[in-house]
Amino acid sequence: MTEPAPSSATLQRETSRLRCISCGTIPDTAGQDFRCKHCGDLLEVFYPDWERSRSTGFSPAELKSTWLRRRSSFVPEDQSGVWRFRELLPRLKNDIAPITLREGNTPIYELPSCARVAGLDHLLAKHQGMNPTGSFKDTGMTTAASFARQEGFRWVACASTGNTSASMAAYASRGGMRSLVLIPEGKISWGKLSQALDYGAVTCQLRTDFDGCMRVLNQVVQRMPVYLLNSVNPYRLEGQKTAAIELLEQLGWNVPDHIVVPGGNLGNSSALGKALLELRTLGLISRLPKLSIIQACGANPFVRMIRSHEKKLNSVQADTLATAIRIGNPASWKKALRALQETGGTVEEATEVEIAEAKAQIGADGIGCEPASAVTLVGASKLVQQGFIKRGEQVVLILTGHLLKDPEFTLKFHRGELFSGSPHEHEAKILAAQQRAPVVLDANPDAVIKTLQAAEKQPG
Ligand code: F0G
Repeated sequence: MTEPAPSSATLQRETSRLRCISCGTIPDTAGQDFRCKHCGDLLEVFYPDWERSRSTGFSPAELKSTWLRRRSSFVPEDQSGVWRFRELLPRLKNDIAPITLREGNTPIYELPSCARVAGLDHLLAKHQGMNPTGSFKDTGMTTAASFARQEGFRWVACASTGNTSASMAAYASRGGMRSLVLIPEGKISWGKLSQALDYGAVTCQLRTDFDGCMRVLNQVVQRMPVYLLNSVNPYRLEGQKTAAIELLEQLGWNVPDHIVVPGGNLGNSSALGKALLELRTLGLISRLPKLSIIQACGANPFVRMIRSHEKKLNSVQADTLATAIRIGNPASWKKALRALQETGGTVEEATEVEIAEAKAQIGADGIGCEPASAVTLVGASKLVQQGFIKRGEQVVLILTGHLLKDPEFTLKFHRGELFSGSPHEHEAKILAAQQRAPVVLDANPDAVIKTLQAAEKQPG
């Protein structure tokens, strides 16, 4: 028997609280740095009633049908691919309207040529780069920025490798707040920098790396009334959870075998893992996909920790052309470790040349992504070779950023300049077959036709 669908107005969210992930302290309010006042570790959002009853008060079937029905609604909160799942999110006071750009609602694509390269029958990608500002950050920014406004903050701030700042600046402006961005000078793509400027952020390019920006910001938030919007803010992760919920919905609630995600500051993998565990607790899924985290070899502290069976993460001096994940001291490593252990996932790493090659491969499937996202294809391919992923299993890559986020990387790749003068120059020769540099011609049809005929003789 199918249950009657409740109206959206009757579905009530449970009250959420914050809790320290290490000592379990439940603070009444979060400090400016979103860290536990007793032990200094990160806070997470939890829902006491779910833990008591393993239910939101609504059956899994009711939740699933309500979420689906909202897809045909014109109410902004329903059109958001985040707030559509609001029963699994913290609730804004008095149900005030969230700041939304209609984030989420991102597509899943088949990647046939990437599947062949990886040695899989099928390969899916959920493209979080199709969010309003071009990255997955929007799904967490809609929640955290809405909470910032609810708390009455005039200023929000983040340290960023580019995407968080772009997203934060947009949501702050939409919500009538001002934003302060700290970015590493010369180490973020022009596309992302230009977004922050256009959306009106006060943008400081600090002569340091991301980890240095984070250190400075932590001091600024202690001294000024600005609201921290990095992913240590637990409300960010609540919004980012919805990518996993939406993915499951898109797959008809059939659980894939593997989800493969890039790792930088490790907020996203933590959020996806939290969502999967909550969905299982609430009976929306009965088993878990394995969540695997892929880092760049040049920014791989989490991979090192797992491989060496260390109990603690040791930071590294990060360096990679995938600037989005150029992070040596990821804040959310404990949360990500939990996601990995609970789901039975693993870690892998991608070299600079492998990242470039995989990015071009994803582009050749007509999808495209930014370099950091491409580590997922490298990781999946390696995990197939190791037998951790089986040929016939269902695998979903999480593509985190849009191709146009970093056009300079793509142009340099196709012009064969990406690794010029670098230690990878020799190894990068294998990329020649994928390079499609633009050709400059006189403005006459013969020249164009000659180029067309020459291209016809080469593999597409
Ligand atoms: N992919 C992209 C495109 C990113 O921008 C980031 C992080 C990640 C992957 C890694 O996600 O940090 O949650 O593990 N970018 C942050 C920023 C750090 O400032 O934009 P993570």
